[in-house]
Parts: sequence; structure tokens; C-alpha cells
Amino acid sequence: MKMEDEVPVIDLAGIQGAVLKSVSEQIAKACDEWGFFQIINHGVDLSLMERIQEVYKEFFYLPAEEKQKYFINEDFHGWCSPQMSDDPGVNKMGLITPETCEFTYHEGLCGDPNRKTTVPTNPPALRSTLFEYATEVRALQERVLAAMSVELGLEADALSKLFAPADLGIRANFYPLKTDDNTVGVLSAHSDVSVLTFLLADKVSGLEIKKDGRWIQVKPLENAFIVNVADCLEVTSNGRFRSVEHRGGGNESHERISIGAFYNPSRAATIGPVEELLDESHPRRYRSAKFADLRDALVAKGVQGKGHVEALKICEG
Ligand code: OGA
Ligand code: NI
Repeated sequence: MKMEDEVPVIDLAGIQGAVLKSVSEQIAKACDEWGFFQIINHGVDLSLMERIQEVYKEFFYLPAEEKQKYFINEDFHGWCSPQMSDDPGVNKMGLITPETCEFTYHEGLCGDPNRKTTVPTNPPALRSTLFEYATEVRALQERVLAAMSVELGLEADALSKLFAPADLGIRANFYPLKTDDNTVGVLSAHSDVSVLTFLLADKVSGLEIKKDGRWIQVKPLENAFIVNVADCLEVTSNGRFRSVEHRGGGNESHERISIGAFYNPSRAATIGPVEELLDESHPRRYRSAKFADLRDALVAKGVQGKGHVEALKICEG
């Protein structure tokens, strides 16, 4: 793989210190050029990162009857597996295809304390580990968002204020060993509807991103997070930062688990370009929409490349 095919790696050791400016410049450059980067020395407890991977592995290893107790609901929270695609009773919305990888989605942190999130109670450590993990990751995401805000010429807390109170969604994907049939157990091309996504990938490769029309494989670094700009940040930044299409798959020699942490705006938040970023030479490029509507469109129509963010575009350019 050529050097220019590697996503940038950013050392966050200085994100709170005097070198903040150089770190935030690197982040902005990576967002401009790639929309994806890996972060190291990010401060999240490494043993917590191991524990969350272990606990999800335990969950995926449970018998299907047990996991079925947490079956996905109308809001797309819960567990599902491709085996259920041909069961009209469970696949009411028709969103589960025989190709899709097994996954489970829950809110690790819910910005609205009145809304209930249904996190599995088996394995018993899942709930507390998820809460601990989501708390650390969301705090780190807010530091990264602050760096982005500053680079956009806004106050450090401008972006996080727009999305408050943010939810932290966690999607764990389980990819079985890849067979000759490439279509089994994949997450097809999509951009994320969130603001920012931090993916915790194990050592096994399987994430591919689209760059200049080509698919590039990302090699996960140990103890790193793979960060990507998602749709709400593309819209908010008026296209200065772009969400990038990506897809997930398995591997020939190892099964694979990846855990995505989605910094999601409050459902009530209006997502639209920040006024301060608009002027005569930077006209508004996206319509505004409520986050709830963007998320519901994803649930209703399923994964479709960058379709959900393209639908908000006012004009090409
Ligand atoms: C996701 C995702 C990629 C992967 O969960 O949104 O893009 O490699 N996952 O599992
Ligand atoms: Ni994704």
C-alpha cells in the first residue's frame, strides 16, 4: 500500500495542552483531505477498550434465542442477524437482508433522561461497561469537536452546543469468517448519519473507505480509534468537512468485531449550516432538517451510500 493510501494518524497527546493548535490543524487537514483519521494517545483507558470488546464478544457468542430477547425495535435499537431476514414475523420492516452482518445498536448515553434505552442485561457486565465506555468516548469526542470548531473559526463549544444534549449510540458489528461468497456478513456502503463516529476495530482489517472513487482498506492501529466525519458535521460545516462513504466486512482468517460510537445530536436539534460560515462566497449548500427526521429516514429507507445527506443538498458544488 502506498503512503498516500494510508489514512492520517494523529497523536492527541497534546489536545489539552499548549500544542492544541497544531493538533487541531492536523484534525482539520485530515477532515478536508480524507474525512477519516486514526487517533492515538487519546487518553481513553486501554483496559476499558479491551473490556468493551470482550463483553460484546460474549454477547455475540450467546445462543440466538437469548439474543432474540433484545430483538431490534421500530427505532432500530436492538439486535439483529441475517438469519432473520426470511422470517416475516421479525423482519416486519424488511430492513434485514441475508447479506447484512449481525449487529446490535443501543444508546450508551441518552441525552434525554426521559427516554428509555434498552441495553441487554446479558452478559451482566455489558450495561455498566457500555456506560463507562460511552462516558469516556463522548468526552473525548467533545474535545475533538472543540478542535474542529476552532478550526472553523467558531467558539470552541459552538459545535457541541448545536447538538446538545447529545446521545451516544453504540453499534457493535460481528463479522464471521469471510468465505468465498463475499456477500455474506457485510455492512454495505454508507455514510454515518451522526456528527462524528469513533470506530474501535480489533486487529483484523475489514473497514474500507471511498477516496477519490476508489475503495481503500484501513489498517487499524493497536489502541487507536478510527474517526470519521459524519453527515451532520458535513451539513453543519456547510460542506467544509465531508462525510465519507465506507463499508465493513470480514476477513478470511479471523472473525471480526467492530464497535462504532456515534455522537448523535439530540432528536430535537435542527441540523443546518452554521450562519457564521455563510457569506457571499460561501453560499448555503444544505437545507436544514430536524435530526429526528434524518434518523427516521435512515430507519425507514435503510443504508444507501451517501443518499441521506445528498437529499439535503441545495446544489452541486
Ligand atoms: C458502522 C461502520 C464499519 C466496520 O458501524 O457504521 O461503518 O468496519 N462499521 O465495521
Ligand atoms: Ni459507518
